[in-house]
Amino acid sequence: MQADRYNAVARLLHWLIAAMIAINLATGLLHDPLEKLIRLMPFHKALGLTVLVLSCARLGWRLAWTAPPTLPGMGAAEIAAARGVHVVLYALMIAMPLSGWIMSSASTYPLSWFGLFAVPKLAVAKGSALAGFAHEFHELGGWIMLALVAGHALAALRHHFILRDGVLRRML
Ligand code: HEM
Ligand code: HEM
Repeated sequence: MQADRYNAVARLLHWLIAAMIAINLATGLLHDPLEKLIRLMPFHKALGLTVLVLSCARLGWRLAWTAPPTLPGMGAAEIAAARGVHVVLYALMIAMPLSGWIMSSASTYPLSWFGLFAVPKLAVAKGSALAGFAHEFHELGGWIMLALVAGHALAALRHHFILRDGVLRRML
């Protein structure tokens, strides 16, 4: 049974990163309406940069071992859809914080990791095409990520509560 589960590091990183991304999707979308009450952006940026580091570690770890085999009973289309979503999620786990870092490097606000140390800014000029592209990407990517995460979580819950197979258990 143990061999059919994701290993402990993969499980820990999955849930740690998932929680951080959920918080960042929320703080990203709410920072504007809540602007008068609280400044969410410094926290959003520091947490997002943490996601970047952890996602690189997770991707490296993932490439070093073989994931548990798909459960019998899953159709080819379902397997392909799940894999496709996982690949895009991995890509967004890197591209979302990276695009945030690029666009924030072009702004005048300082970048700091929870006030503990300064994060270096990338060489991106204010008003440059790269800064503009990163901004557009970050906004659109946020909505795409929100939709994919919702679909991914609903699919996992469907497996657990309706199909009652072991798909969710192997990530717990
Ligand atoms: C897990 C990583 C991240 C996620 C999921 C995420 C998600 C989001 C979302 C959904 C928005 C709202 C976009 C909109 O207005 O429609 C946003 C805004 C923003 N994010 Fe992120 N973000 C992440 C990481 C970062 C990082 C690392 C930085 C900078 C170092 C950053 C800087 C910003 C800034 C400056 C905005 C405001 C843009 C604006 O209002 O014009 N983000 N983010
Ligand atoms: C921001 C949120 C999330 C992100 C970015 C995310 C990302 C991922 C990725 C990239 C994988 C592929 C793992 C691999 O093969 O290396 C995965 C697997 C998995 N995730 Fe998530 N996940 C999130 C939230 C959730 C939630 C909320 C649930 C459950 C309700 C969940 C349940 C699962 C399960 C069961 C698997 C294993 C699927 C399989 O074996 O085919 N995830 N997740």
